[in-house]
Amino acid sequence: MRPWTFPVALRPSCTREPVFQQIAQAIRADIRRGRLRPGDPLPGSRSLAQTLTVHRNTVLAAYRELEAEGWTVAEQRTTRVALDLPQSVAAARPPLRGGGEGRLGYDLAAPGPRRAPREPNLLCFGGGLPDLRLVPTELLARAYRRALASRNLLGYGDARGEARFRSALARFLSETRGLAVSEDRLMVAGGSQGALDLVARTLIRPGDRVAVEDPGYPAAWATLRAAGAELVPVPVDEAGLQVESLAGRLEEGPLRAVYLTPHHQFPTTVTMNASRRLKLLDLARRHRLAVLEDDYDAEFHFECRPVLPLAGDDPGGVVVYLGTLSKILAPGLRLGFVAGPRVLVDALAARRETADGQGDQVVQRAAAELLEDGLLQRHARKMRRIYEVRREALARALRRHLAGAVAFDLPAGGMSLWLRVDPAIDTEAWAARAQRAGVGITTGRAFDFRGRPRPSLRLGFSALDERELEEAVRRLAQALRS
Ligand SMILES: Cc1ncc(COP(=O)(O)O)c(C=O)c1O
Repeated sequence: MRPWTFPVALRPSCTREPVFQQIAQAIRADIRRGRLRPGDPLPGSRSLAQTLTVHRNTVLAAYRELEAEGWTVAEQRTTRVALDLPQSVAAARPPLRGGGEGRLGYDLAAPGPRRAPREPNLLCFGGGLPDLRLVPTELLARAYRRALASRNLLGYGDARGEARFRSALARFLSETRGLAVSEDRLMVAGGSQGALDLVARTLIRPGDRVAVEDPGYPAAWATLRAAGAELVPVPVDEAGLQVESLAGRLEEGPLRAVYLTPHHQFPTTVTMNASRRLKLLDLARRHRLAVLEDDYDAEFHFECRPVLPLAGDDPGGVVVYLGTLSKILAPGLRLGFVAGPRVLVDALAARRETADGQGDQVVQRAAAELLEDGLLQRHARKMRRIYEVRREALARALRRHLAGAVAFDLPAGGMSLWLRVDPAIDTEAWAARAQRAGVGITTGRAFDFRGRPRPSLRLGFSALDERELEEAVRRLAQALRS
């Protein structure tokens, strides 16, 4: 490890405290507050003397004093912080890793608990994470290298996103999702979460009522709330969001927007039917309601043709379309986007300019190349075939090991199954036992607007292969019996 630099201001020579003691005192203070850790090397006496413009003997005197007090040890030609510090110091010090809570000497406008970190599971059903083992990293790395080498993407750029990426994305959306968008109607953001955040902060005024699906996607609820929205839950059934119920909520007072996942409803996986879609668009047009359509896993539809997005037929101009490459490529790349009218895109870009300026143009260009060459589309087709096999494998394993305990309809698409659990089973206790058996599952409670327990489970099948799915279900069954 490199020795630390020594930013200490020695007090003017008129003070009574000798300089060597000032140096020793500064080092003691750094050890106490954890800036210097046991085993860390101190700078060489010659270099520290140069930095502080003092005589080397002064530094040596300070080091001798620290050593005599047990703060440091001299070994070979280096002085290091002692491994066994005086007890009182060791007890008061912050822990070695991630240490130091830090005192907050001011108030936060928006304090808030973070989402609990994901538990590391041996086998995690995850909620629709792609299999990261199959991400085409070689292709991506080559494209990234080319994008980086061009250097012109290393400066500031367009807040809407890298031009070739938006243009390739526009073509992709037109070919695969029937959307007639051009690049200037696209805004690239940090995942669809980042896209929703931009939209929410552009659209919502504090106190605005925004309808959401119940059960639904809590991450989106948090984003909408952070923008000041008062959320209004609307129930979901086997045909998606109950539009009649939404109409009822509109009678109680105006709504600014409705956030929904019509293609594969999150978490129930159902697809919104055609008549509800038409009713929703009509209702939205009449009430000037923004329809925030989150089409997060459109590519993974296994039966005949996917249902096209609401945004594909939106004469009233009410739909704000949110998409992501998190499912077909990788969530860590944070490639999400919004498609909407130019006025909206410009407003979102202005918002982004005041936040972090722009996204990562190099990654966006790399993704553009994959799209232009058809490689991402080929990868998505490959993954669809793989996920379809996994969907079957999970269904088979559930029928074999858990028949009677759970029931489900095979979803037409998506990356998860939504299970109805026998109400006699305590789903939460089952999940806790499964966790101990090394299997991660998410219970219905996580998606309930009021956090009530629900006799349901959402099991993602995309991140585990067939053998792992079989093993995970076997353990799940064991956890149920134990
Ligand atoms: C409903 C829903 N929307 C969006 C996303 C994708 O989020 P992002 O693009 O921010 O990675 C997910 C991923 O889990 C999701 O479940």
